[in-house]
Amino acid sequence: MADVKLIVRNARQVVQVRKYPILKVCGEGMQQVDISQEEDGDGISVVSNSDGKILFIGKESERKRKYVENETTRIIDASGKCVLPGFVDAHTHPVWAGDRVHEFAMKLAGATYMEVHKAGGGIHYTVEHTQRASEDELYDGLKQRLNSLMKTGTTLVECKSGYGLNKATEVKMLRVIERARRNLPIGISSTFCGAHAVPKGGNSEDATNDVISVQLPCIRDMMEKKELTVDNIDVFCEQGVFDIDQSRRILSAGKNIGLQINFHGDELHPLDGAKMGAELGALAISHLEEISDSGISAMVEAGSIGVVLPTTAYILRLKPPPVRKMIDSGMAVALGSDFNPNAFCSSMPIVMHLACVLLRMSMPEVLIAATLNAAAALGKSDTHGSLIEGKCANMVIIDAPRWEHIIYQFGFQNDLIDFVICEGNVVFEK
Ligand code: NIG
Ligand code: FE
Repeated sequence: MADVKLIVRNARQVVQVRKYPILKVCGEGMQQVDISQEEDGDGISVVSNSDGKILFIGKESERKRKYVENETTRIIDASGKCVLPGFVDAHTHPVWAGDRVHEFAMKLAGATYMEVHKAGGGIHYTVEHTQRASEDELYDGLKQRLNSLMKTGTTLVECKSGYGLNKATEVKMLRVIERARRNLPIGISSTFCGAHAVPKGGNSEDATNDVISVQLPCIRDMMEKKELTVDNIDVFCEQGVFDIDQSRRILSAGKNIGLQINFHGDELHPLDGAKMGAELGALAISHLEEISDSGISAMVEAGSIGVVLPTTAYILRLKPPPVRKMIDSGMAVALGSDFNPNAFCSSMPIVMHLACVLLRMSMPEVLIAATLNAAAALGKSDTHGSLIEGKCANMVIIDAPRWEHIIYQFGFQNDLIDFVICEGNVVFEK
């Protein structure tokens, strides 16, 4: 008998994103998504094996002939419903202690992000609370947040450290992320962001050296001992934080120990972080509100993915990144929530809606950016981000006649999402 863990049967639409293996979708290719559609009452079914991989996608009539359930198979009747790939969130800062609701009020009253930061708030406020918190407290907070993410359809998420700014607390954060990776069903890509800010009272040169000579070697040793898995190196490359040269040194040092380059660039000031990242062969660069035309060309040439974060641009009332220009130039664009105590939103359906309205992306572009291209920004699009045989059975099932409802119905994700599935297991059920 075939090894069948899950059958999602007879859906009206299964949004596969692409029906063939491909690692990312660039430029105008993002205009189109591949969908398998019910015909003459014969819906589309997806079968997962016990390893959580997709065994079959096709007509329910064919599924019935080829794959029968056994006593342990979970069967979900998706008649009249739509199946999408689990969403991928390419950028979050979900490990922290202490909220910043008081700063939201300050920003509403007119303070800019950097004014709050320079006054010792912002990242510094979160660092103070995170340094004091125990590993268990941080883990409990992360677990709760990742649960919320899963309920809104996220099945793979990037998680950064960066509220430690010293070896002990950065390692504490990475250990918390590691614990989540080992114990929770959601997929995690772990990022070291020890260069997220300059510690209070310090300077950026000392902080750069500390990241390169103290923090990174410790992380490398822990990776070698299999105590930690870290995938990416990040830096906040920004005027008044880490400059281009310091960022380049930090990212290169991370690359030298095998980390993928994936960093914050060109958010508030046009420093040409995009160009520097492209020169280093960055896998992905986030924010890009202030990217230059030559930065766009350099990223396209290098194949770096642009991760855009509409909630941050919205909350901070920033000029949005020039996404139309980026896509028209042939860039692969991805989406992230940037979930953090400044931008408190972890819902990819809300992020996708904002990307349509604020960034002028179409719904197919946004869906690709929140699935296949976001997985590509984490180096995981060979296994995640689209629905084809052999890839992870990560799915969102919505109770709507067309997939676009998950974007169109702003804030209605809790009503629309019936099931979230990670590797063939139901992790959320309405
Ligand atoms: O991506 N810009 C730097 N880092 C975060 C914000 C982190 C924070 O304010 O706590 C971002 O927006
Ligand atoms: Fe960020």
